[in-house]
Amino acid sequence: MSGEVQVTPYNRQESKKGQVTRMFDTIAPYYDQLNRILSLGIDVWWRRVAIRKLAGLKPKTMLDIATGTADLAIEAARVLKPEHITGLDISAQMLAIGQKKIVRKKLDQTIHLETGDSENLRFSDQSFEAVTAAFGVRNFEHLEKGLAEMFRVLKPGGMLVILEFSRPRVFPVKQLFNLYFRYLLPLIGKFRSKDQKAYKYLYESVQAFPDYDNFTAILQKTGFAQTSFQPLTAGICCIYTATK
Ligand SMILES: C[S@@+](CC[C@H](N)C(=O)[O-])C[C@H]1O[C@@H](n2cnc3c(N)ncnc32)[C@H](O)[C@@H]1O
Repeated sequence: MSGEVQVTPYNRQESKKGQVTRMFDTIAPYYDQLNRILSLGIDVWWRRVAIRKLAGLKPKTMLDIATGTADLAIEAARVLKPEHITGLDISAQMLAIGQKKIVRKKLDQTIHLETGDSENLRFSDQSFEAVTAAFGVRNFEHLEKGLAEMFRVLKPGGMLVILEFSRPRVFPVKQLFNLYFRYLLPLIGKFRSKDQKAYKYLYESVQAFPDYDNFTAILQKTGFAQTSFQPLTAGICCIYTATK
């Protein structure tokens, strides 16, 4: 991505980080409901499959980066039953919604949310047995810096699981999904979230983001080993795993 013009939600003047924070603060009240509507509920299954990648490792300590409204952290707590999950996000409004869900589900002894920037983690080296991120890394201002931080805080032998949108390659899914993703989804998003640009940014940021083996190549460059990817739902989404 370096050297290219960055895809940002609103304008070319402000930093991507500032705009992304503002965007998620704005759409936070509508985020969960829109996820379910726009993905027809499939996003719940995507997170479930991602978390199952950690079933063999059974991590005791986890960090969920860009945790947002905490859906991935909640799924991890439910399935993996670790001792502790830290959920970190740059948007206080997303976290506020996540916190309510955690309390409602009585998971507040396990999951602790905090505001922070993935590109500058406050944690010591080798703090977590697993690091996860769902639909977060695409929003980083500096992708490689964020990934390097994930690598740093992971314990040796620990595992990284990243869930992210990708671009389907197969006919006719590619053509049909593109029509939906480019035209219909931003229209529904605009109507429901009261943000004119957020769901247009979603389409544009996915187009600019390195997917499949392009992304695993970046993971390897960052230092990760045993990188692999599994496309889901005809390649609309992809799970990336790696170890340290
Ligand atoms: C699409 S949401 C995903 C939320 C959640 N992981 C999920 O699966 O629904 C992306 C999240 O990334 C967060 N984010 C973007 N850049 C970040 C950064 N540099 N540091 C921490 N969080 C960031 C946003 O605030 C937002 O909550």
